[in-house]
Amino acid sequence: MQKYIVQGGRALHGEVRISGAKNAAVAIIPAALLVDGVCRIENIPQISDVTVLLKILERLGAGVRFLNTTDVEIDCTHVRTTHVPQDLAHRLRASYYLIGALLGRFGEAEVSMPGGCNFGGVRPIDQHVKGFAAMGAEVREGDYIVARAREGRMKGANVYLDVVSVGATMNIMMAAALAEGNTVIENAAKEPHIVDLANFLNSMGANIKGAGTDTIRVFGVDRLHGGTYAIIPDQIEAGTYMAAVAAAGGGILLRGIIPKHMDCITAKLQEMGVEVIEEDDTLLVRRRGRLMRANVKTLPYPGFPTDMQPQITVALSLAEGTSIVTEGVWDNRYRYVGELTRMGAQIHVEGRTAVVEGVSHLTGATVQAFDLRAGAAMVVAALAASGTSEILNVQYIERGYEDIIGKLRSLGAEIRSVEYEDEELVRRQIG
Ligand code: EPZ
Repeated sequence: MQKYIVQGGRALHGEVRISGAKNAAVAIIPAALLVDGVCRIENIPQISDVTVLLKILERLGAGVRFLNTTDVEIDCTHVRTTHVPQDLAHRLRASYYLIGALLGRFGEAEVSMPGGCNFGGVRPIDQHVKGFAAMGAEVREGDYIVARAREGRMKGANVYLDVVSVGATMNIMMAAALAEGNTVIENAAKEPHIVDLANFLNSMGANIKGAGTDTIRVFGVDRLHGGTYAIIPDQIEAGTYMAAVAAAGGGILLRGIIPKHMDCITAKLQEMGVEVIEEDDTLLVRRRGRLMRANVKTLPYPGFPTDMQPQITVALSLAEGTSIVTEGVWDNRYRYVGELTRMGAQIHVEGRTAVVEGVSHLTGATVQAFDLRAGAAMVVAALAASGTSEILNVQYIERGYEDIIGKLRSLGAEIRSVEYEDEELVRRQIG
């Protein structure tokens, strides 16, 4: 197993290029199953979630060929299997997109229940199932989700989502792209990756309108053809580097981003006294003096993203005064707080609210990454803390951050990844 060792307390300086968006890539790769032809997808992030999804497509019979480190050709023309085996599917949450894509293309799907980040609560998919059912599919949930279009092909329908769900919005869009007739998704999610998926599908011949608003119309077409598409930059990766500068100090230039996607994060950091200057596709982020307190409430886009909540909380833990963080999307996303308090943070969690009393400094400690963003928060905290920190379970971090070690080192951070033996595992093997 790998762990990160961080010598903290060094300000960050330099430039970093932001990779393709994980949460767009993990939808667009399964969406290639809908395409009868070769899709060339550019700006793919090199992260383990992408590797697993590409392996799944290969197992299903797709041709997958990397042209270079970021561009891949996927040919799903000869895919015939609709059964996605458990060993790979359970490794990531986004395997639920295979259900919508396979249903859309073949009218059937058999996918083992998706795994992925566990925030300590339930991650239901009832809204996905409700959408598929409205479109004429019969869905059975067990170890596997087995879905079958009663008439062999999905049928357009009106779907009103009871909660604003990124996954359900994207999954229903995929199931609807090749459906007979038109689908309307109301109370749809509006995240940049929703628009990216619609743009990808449209560039392959789909007819989707309204992505980025709360009403998406999908006019079913008979076939999608091959084409080329570049994935948008990762809003959360960029936000994580911004939070790192806020917490550890310094000034960095983020390259290859879409500043508009960053507005919800930029505004909060500016409120905390961080200087953020945007240009065409760059952001200059600089901390000047002590951070100021702020309240944060996470909400669906364009609100402050839940996937940035742990990282901004680390920065707030070093701000002057008391900040209130309210988690508005997930029931339980504060498991990392215990780790952070061991580094000296003063945070009290009550339900979905965290009261953060700013402290003057954090101290290095050995901490765990409980999930992807909790892990990113531990990295941010370790960079800001005085002394040495060790971060365990970094496989979670590597699911979503391309070359985080290389990028941080180029900004002057002292961070390295080393192999270690899981003592518990060794004990069990010996025992
Ligand atoms: C996506 O998860 C992201 N994952 C998550 O990012 C992100 O936190 C989340 O959207 C919200 O932005 C991927 O894109 C792979 P939701 P998703 O459906 O689609 C409730 C990361 O760190 N809900 O928008 O699974 C649900 O319980 C990951 O990169 C239902 O009740 O999230 C939650 O409270 C972690 N029924 C809320 O909606 C449903 O059928 C939003 O969930 C679906 C969701």
